[in-house]
Amino acid sequence: MHEEISSTIIVEPTTQLRGTLQVPGDKSISHRYALLATLADGTTTIHNYSMGADCLSTLSCLQALGVSVKSIPNSKTTGMTVSITGQGLGTLTPSQYPIDTGNSGTTMRLLAGILANHSFTSILTGDSSLQKRPMRRIIQPLEQMGATLDSTNGYPPLVIRGTQLTGIDYAPLIASAQVKSSVLLAGLHARGTTQVHEPIATRDHTERALSAFGARTQNTNGAFSVTGGCPLKALNLTVPGDPSSAAFLIVAASIIPDSDLLVEGVGLNPTRTAYIDVLRHAGADIQTEIDGTNASEPYGHIRVRSRPLTSLTITAEQVPSVIDELPALGALAAHGCAVEVSGAAELRNKESDRIAAFAKGLRGLGADVTERADGFVAYRQNELKGGTADAAGDHRLAMAFAIAALAGKDPSTITGSDSVAISFPGFFSVLNMLRQ
Ligand code: S3P
Repeated sequence: MHEEISSTIIVEPTTQLRGTLQVPGDKSISHRYALLATLADGTTTIHNYSMGADCLSTLSCLQALGVSVKSIPNSKTTGMTVSITGQGLGTLTPSQYPIDTGNSGTTMRLLAGILANHSFTSILTGDSSLQKRPMRRIIQPLEQMGATLDSTNGYPPLVIRGTQLTGIDYAPLIASAQVKSSVLLAGLHARGTTQVHEPIATRDHTERALSAFGARTQNTNGAFSVTGGCPLKALNLTVPGDPSSAAFLIVAASIIPDSDLLVEGVGLNPTRTAYIDVLRHAGADIQTEIDGTNASEPYGHIRVRSRPLTSLTITAEQVPSVIDELPALGALAAHGCAVEVSGAAELRNKESDRIAAFAKGLRGLGADVTERADGFVAYRQNELKGGTADAAGDHRLAMAFAIAALAGKDPSTITGSDSVAISFPGFFSVLNMLRQ
């Protein structure tokens, strides 16, 4: 496997993946720690902050809003140390220019919640992929709290006219951690209490982080609330490895014969590890062990040894807890494990239309994929030939196609492979190391 000048990579087949590795700092947690550090009083230090482009976008947006951010890359680990000096709730200063959130939907939606509470106008924009992602889901509750948000028919750029907000009791129609988090962050300095009841539980990093930073929070029967106006304290934090990044290698090692991987220092928050249960259900040999907890986030190690797997069926109720791992799980089809996914129309709203682009790319590698409005059925009739797949600018598709290509008879070409830098810079080097 060798990198070329363009963002095209050739992936050779492999017979094994073996070794010990660490994955980059968790993307979701890195964003939240940076945003909350900004609103705290004093300097927060965040270790193992993700060096993925999305999390760097969050830092540059905060700098554009007058926040002091210092970062020190740490060559020994997969993340960097970031110090953020917050001045307290409501202390961001207006940016003269539109604020560029890059490819990061999490940055745009969560930052919108915070800016809705600052009494000035901000413009949030993003790259061509982000401009196609729906924003009504946050516009509606933030307007209900008192802000005004203009958009282009519900799509970015967002013009946010912030004001003193009032807390609401909100039941989102879609299961989305970003929507929940946008509302809860807006609630941090709204009048009264803001409560969110989720239709189906999603990742709970915002809730854990809010409590760690000292916000006044309550969790009753699946409804989480935050009371506005309570000052946040600065912290010393360590971000665990990203289980969604680890998923690509864990999925591949669970089925490629003679594989044995140990992933260390990885987040084991149960709202993120449902894909391991899905794999185990198909017969995978995976052990997890918690080694500790940081700011209420459990971390530990995951050991996976390959075994033949049966087919996988993922239903609507499971989708929110495996939403980011669906491309990785779908890649199992290339290795001979049929995968059926339904109730996942949300995949069409991600960094690409992850149903259409996944189906096209996996077919390009020689698998059979039937696309449905809300999912797909993927399988492999014969030996996988290998071929060409385009990541469609989507980091998770680039990694999914790479692990699918490991099953090919011949080498495969992945175009747009540089998109891995969004969440897992160095992914192809790690993959190379594990196959040798
Ligand atoms: C994220 C939530 C999920 C996920 C995304 C990160 C977060 O998005 O797909 O990669 O950090 O809150 P939705 O909330 O849109 O489902």
